[in-house]
Amino acid sequence: MKKTANILVTGGAGFIGSHTVVLLIEQGFNPVIVDDFRNSEKRVLKGIEEITGQIPVVHEVDVVDKEAMHAIFQQYNFEGVIHFAAYKAVGESVQKPLMYYRNNLVSLMNCIELCEEFEVKNFVFSSSCTVYGEPDDILVNENTPIKPANSPYGQTKQVSEQILKDAIDSKNGLRVLCLRYFNPIGAHESSAIGELPIGVPNNLVPYVTQTAIGKLEQLTVFGDDYQTPDGSCIRDYIHVMDLAEAHIHGMKWLSRQKDDTYEILNAGTGVGVSVLEIIHTFEKVTGTALNWKIGPRREGDVSQIYADPKRAFDLLGWKTKRSIEESLKDAWNWEQKLANEK
Ligand code: WQD
Repeated sequence: MKKTANILVTGGAGFIGSHTVVLLIEQGFNPVIVDDFRNSEKRVLKGIEEITGQIPVVHEVDVVDKEAMHAIFQQYNFEGVIHFAAYKAVGESVQKPLMYYRNNLVSLMNCIELCEEFEVKNFVFSSSCTVYGEPDDILVNENTPIKPANSPYGQTKQVSEQILKDAIDSKNGLRVLCLRYFNPIGAHESSAIGELPIGVPNNLVPYVTQTAIGKLEQLTVFGDDYQTPDGSCIRDYIHVMDLAEAHIHGMKWLSRQKDDTYEILNAGTGVGVSVLEIIHTFEKVTGTALNWKIGPRREGDVSQIYADPKRAFDLLGWKTKRSIEESLKDAWNWEQKLANEK
């Protein structure tokens, strides 16, 4: 893939998207962000410029709007697409399933059809470990049987992977890599960009940092009666920059594959960490005491899941480099940066 390749990054102003755009720019690619800022803030663009010295190219467009997307494909000779744009709140998806199906599936199908029309071959899709549902074995690899999704959000990711597989089986000439994210956390080391949850965070780490900074009163640990060493749930927390690097490796790998390639890879550290371990590690690395309590379990939580990252290393030569301590430190630095701006 030529160094100055134009890469479409849908949802490129979001948490994972913005960190991936930074790396794309630093590695000489030309990322084109398409984002309608429904789930992100324009301040991200300044942060990307602060890190890279380059003003990112942005089109404020809804990926569901096929006509508008067609015009963008006409404007650029894309060599690849990284499709991040999607709703991703598990709880919200239970309340508004049709909004999730329409947005997440129509935006995906628009991108696939436009890639076929404009012969854009390399397609990296933002999938999620949530597709595994409640797996029988807690260390999951890409062949771990998929269980029924435990939310419409998870279902949209399962269906999206199937749509991509069926499109490839129709010999449409694309090359597809589905990256199943585990739990992305942290922020760019510069604190110029990071996670910007809208409203009260659903996810653990932003809830931890907002509690520690005083924006939130107290963290509730959703259950300590699971069959785990300390009773709290276990997850695979991956630094957002490690995850961003996986996308660059994936795009380069796709450009070396033959047409009609379809691959699924876990994007995780391979290490399971419990909620209580996150709390204790956070307090240790930041020197900040956290106000927390044990509460009831959260509906839909799986007790433990973490990645077998071997296949991603074998195929892409990629593996995570950053520790959980570094991830939590970067998340805390970012939270403090946000507080200082107030
Ligand atoms: C992690 C652990 C909670 C908040 C979800 C999506 C997944 C991906 C990441 C999008 C769980 C516990 C949390 C709190 C807590 N999203 N927790 N108190 O549920 O593993 O994954 O986000 O791609 O698809 O499913 O992440 O951060 O919400 O929870 O005790 O206030 O922290 O019970 O065990 P989750 P999470």
